[in-house]
Amino acid sequence: MNTNVTDELQPKILIAYYTRSGNTEEFANQIKNFVGGDLFRIEVVNEYPASYQEVLKVSKVEIDNQYKPPIKSLVENIDQYDIVFVGTPNWYSTMAPPVATFLSIHDLSEKTIIPFATHGGGGEARCLTDIKQMSSQATVLEGLAIYGSQAETTNNIIITWLKKLQLFSNVLI
Ligand SMILES: Cc1cc2nc3c(=O)[nH]c(=O)nc-3n(C[C@H](O)[C@H](O)[C@H](O)COP(=O)(O)O)c2cc1C
Repeated sequence: MNTNVTDELQPKILIAYYTRSGNTEEFANQIKNFVGGDLFRIEVVNEYPASYQEVLKVSKVEIDNQYKPPIKSLVENIDQYDIVFVGTPNWYSTMAPPVATFLSIHDLSEKTIIPFATHGGGGEARCLTDIKQMSSQATVLEGLAIYGSQAETTNNIIITWLKKLQLFSNVLI
C-alpha cells in the first residue's frame, strides 16, 4: 500500500511568477526548494523588448493604462491548489503587468495567496499591496520582497519569512 495519509493532508502549493531577467525565478525556485509545490512561469504572448530602455518605455505605458497583456497559458486545474505564491519583479513600484493578467483571469477567491517580489533598490513599494488589492476575495498573507540580484543568496531571510507564515511545519524547512 502506497497511501500516505500525511501527504494527502499537505496543502497543495502553486508558485506562480513572472520574470524577465531571472531574479524572480530564482526566488520562486528557492520557495520551491523549501516548501515544495508546482512552479508556473507566467509568459506573455508578445515578448517585451530585449533592450532595458525599451522595456522601460513599453511597460510604463502599460502600467499607466492598467493594461493587462495576454499571457501564453493558464494554470491547469487551479482548483487543486490551496496556497498560491504570486511573484513579480518591481516594475515602476508595482507588479509587472503580466502578473495583473494572471490575477485577473484565475479564480483565486478560495485560496491563500502569498505575494513575493524582487526589486532593484526601490524595495517592495506597492508590489505586495497591489497583489493583495487585486486578490480581495482571497486570504492574503504577509509577503516578502528581496533585492533582485541577491535572490540567490538571501536564503535566511526567505526561510525566516516562510517559517513565520506558520503554514509549512510539515514540509522542508
Ligand atoms: C520595466 C522595469 C521597471 C522597473 N522598475 C523598478 C522600480 O520601480 N523599482 C525597483 O526597485 N526596481 C525596478 N526595476 C528592477 C527590477 O525590479 C529588478 O531588477 C527585478 O529583480 C527584476 O526581476 P526579474 O529578473 O525577475 O525580471 C525595474 C525593472 C524593469 C525591467
